[in-house]
Amino acid sequence: MKTKITEMFGIEHPVIQGGMHYVGFAEMAAAVSNAGGLGIITGLTQRTPEDLAKEIEKCKGMTDKPFGVNLTFLPGFAAPDYPGYIKSIVDGGVKIVETAGRSPEAYLPALKEAGIKVIHKCTSVRHSLKAERIGCDAVSVDGFECGGHPGEDDIPNMILLPRAAEELKIPFVASGGIGNAQQLVAALALGADGINMGTRFIATKEAPVHQNVKDALVQASELDTRLIMRPLRNTERVLNNPAVEKMLEVEKEKGDATTIEDVAEFVGGVYPKIMQEGTMEAGAWSCGMVAGLIHDIPTCDELVGGIVREAEEIIKGRMQQFAS
Ligand SMILES: Cc1cc2nc3c(=O)[nH]c(=O)nc-3n(C[C@H](O)[C@H](O)[C@H](O)COP(=O)(O)O)c2cc1C
Repeated sequence: MKTKITEMFGIEHPVIQGGMHYVGFAEMAAAVSNAGGLGIITGLTQRTPEDLAKEIEKCKGMTDKPFGVNLTFLPGFAAPDYPGYIKSIVDGGVKIVETAGRSPEAYLPALKEAGIKVIHKCTSVRHSLKAERIGCDAVSVDGFECGGHPGEDDIPNMILLPRAAEELKIPFVASGGIGNAQQLVAALALGADGINMGTRFIATKEAPVHQNVKDALVQASELDTRLIMRPLRNTERVLNNPAVEKMLEVEKEKGDATTIEDVAEFVGGVYPKIMQEGTMEAGAWSCGMVAGLIHDIPTCDELVGGIVREAEEIIKGRMQQFAS
């Protein structure tokens, strides 16, 4: 399937794996890229720029296809060494960067000078337009359904994507809540040139996470996510568990006076425990409503290839019949 996104990134299928903390290691990115999509290493999961440089080299040893690196600019934490991470990306010859969180404006010149294509992940039309204005090459439009940080506007993709299509000139992919072929076809119909998936890629054979995490996604339904950190205006969609319920009680009790310190025990440093050790109730971890559509643990090749093949069948079959 050819779209503006496959052409821009030099990939076979318009399917991107969004950066994911403690999931987006070289193994994940290489598996997605080898499947014809765009795999992405999560920059900040690597503790230092030197570690990121090693992870990039590792990934280059696992795939000869294009892959990217995610740089997340989130509020509330001491600023990591972004210039150092960018140097590792540039020196490693990576040509695609997914930015997310705050505006990447300050770092765009360094990325563009190195000939890097930048796709910025946004949860609103206004942020997407800003990304276009400052020179990003594409955007990932992330609806309210998404795993991770949906922003504070709460606009689902059925509205957000066609709104983005009305306003944007640069290409965009649909992100959030996506996991199957019907949704790829819908995303294309709504104006996107591809899809970005997070949660769905965690339930794959190659995802370098504990089996308990994959099993939890197969077991979960679309009713099992919760929104945490709303009072902090740093909303995150996570899979419900006893720790999340306790955290929500704290937030309810403290209301708008909730501070990051009040909830730190539920979110600080929990990813290695969950993703690597499989201690599922160690705290809150990002997960999208698409969990309700996850029923198996395929290889990335089966997942990406299957989605694109089936999407083409839907377009030629079911969709075609409505046109005639
Ligand atoms: C476990 C997990 C960790 C994530 N970590 C990050 C991250 O570090 N940086 C980022 O930009 N997005 C992160 N995301 C968001 C994804 O890149 C992607 O935008 C999102 O998962 C899309 O929604 P979906 O899960 O419904 O597919 C994370 C998502 C998940 C599920």
